[in-house]
Order: sequence, then structure tokens, then C-alpha cells
Amino acid sequence: MANEAVRHGFDGAADAYAHSRPAYPDEAVAMLLRSFGLTPGAHVVDLGAGTGIFSHHLAAQGLTITAVEPSAEMRAKIIASDHVTTHAGQAESTGLPDRSADAVVAATAWHWFDAERAIKEVRRILKPGAGGLGLLWNLYDESVAWVAEYADISYRRRPANSPSARDGDWRAFFDGLSGWEPLQEARFDNPQDTTPDRLIERLLSSSAIANLSTAEREDARQEAWSVLRRHGLAARAQVVLPYVTTLHWTKPSG
Ligand SMILES: C[S@@+](CC[C@H](N)C(=O)[O-])C[C@H]1O[C@@H](n2cnc3c(N)ncnc32)[C@H](O)[C@@H]1O
Repeated sequence: MANEAVRHGFDGAADAYAHSRPAYPDEAVAMLLRSFGLTPGAHVVDLGAGTGIFSHHLAAQGLTITAVEPSAEMRAKIIASDHVTTHAGQAESTGLPDRSADAVVAATAWHWFDAERAIKEVRRILKPGAGGLGLLWNLYDESVAWVAEYADISYRRRPANSPSARDGDWRAFFDGLSGWEPLQEARFDNPQDTTPDRLIERLLSSSAIANLSTAEREDARQEAWSVLRRHGLAARAQVVLPYVTTLHWTKPSG
């Protein structure tokens, strides 16, 4: 099952994940808040919160976040604060009360969910007349040659039937979805200053690779170094990894 795959895939990679994953651009956060009319104190549920990267962006805006995450190891990395509460749960069955959220978000996570069940759950926990559902992804900018080669290393190794945000297949579910407005979309450049070592760490923390045998992980590591060497990046002190952040949002239509 995809959920099992991702839970075990991210388990064991939580440290590397926390070190090497990118933040989300402030403009994306601002657009989400504007689209849903969210003001300080509003309650936002972050599904698949991981190590809390996006939860903390929202908390910095004075919002109150419930960070829902099934993996205990990822959850343990979320720094709880006055504004962020962690919650063991799944997008499809959060265990949160009816009509308790002003908005629901999922950052680089929705493609892992059972969309039919998750959208019902989102509707259940949203307050009537509240914001809606915001979906973000940090995606590699594969228009850059070395990035496409680097991304391909994990893509080729992902388990069969493993969902990927790369192909955008998750989107079809929302086409003509009854009870919801059409998805709106915005894109933002999100370059990440990083180092060659962090690039390798980021690759090894992907769910496709975190779960492989030691020998297979080593093979992926060597392939990544060889991409970096071929493109003259391996010996650099700093490398810019170009990401594109996509933001999609929708509101209940009735
Ligand atoms: C790529 S990580 C994204 C984490 C974080 N939102 C971020 O932006 O860095 C995807 C997360 O979704 C979680 N996940 C997978 N299936 C899930 C489900 N059915 N319900 C909730 N979370 C799930 C995984 O455990 C993982 O922490």
C-alpha cells in the first residue's frame, strides 16, 4: 500500500529529511492566507506535516496549527510550540473534531493520500464557510539538465505503484469534483542554497531510496556523485538547487 510504503520510506530518514528539505517561499504562504482570508489565530490543519517544515511557516504568521503526521519518527522532529500541536493521524482519518479547521493544507504530501477518503475528511473537519484546501509541492526544476538527471536517480528506483508528484497525476481527481470549486494555481521559483553533501543526503532521504538495501543506497549515492562531477558541481562549496513551488487551492462550493 502506498501509505505503508511512505510510512516506512520516511521512517529512518527523518534526520536527513529535516536537514535537507527546502522551505516554502513566503509569497506562497502569503497567497494561501489571502485566498482563504486567514488571519492570526485561525486554526489550520497541516496533513502529512512530516518534520513540520510547512507548519512552522504558517505558525510564523500567527496561525494555530495542528500538524497531522502518521510517522512517529517524523512527528518527533516537529518542534511543538504555542502555535504548533502535533497529532498522530492520517489524512483519511485524522481523528480531529467535525468543523474545527479554518483551512486544511498538505505540503508535498497529497499525492500519497487516498484522495476520495481524504477529501471527505477535509470537508468534515472544515468549519462551514471556512477557507478551504491548499496543496503545495516543492518540485525539482527539471528544466535544468543536471537537476533532471539528479531527480531521475530516485524516480527510477521508486517502488512500482508508488505515487509521484512529478507526473501531476493527483490533479485529475479534482477535475469536476462535485462540491468543490475548480482548483486555482500559482507557481513560485524557490531556489535552495545547499552543498554537494546535502544534495546527496536529500536524495537518500527520498522515500524511493530510504527503504532500499545498503548496497542499493550506495549505488544511488555513487550515481548522484557522478552526476554532480559530470556537471562540475561536486567540488563546489555551495550549489543552488532550483525548486519550483506549486500552490493549488480550492473551496467548498456549497
Ligand atoms: C514528502 S513528506 C512532506 C512533509 C512536509 N509536509 C514537508 O513539506 O516537508 C510527506 C509526508 O506525508 C506523510 N504521509 C504519507 N501518507 C500519509 C497519509 N495517508 N496521511 C497523512 N500523512 C501521510 C509521510 O509520513 C510524510 O511525512
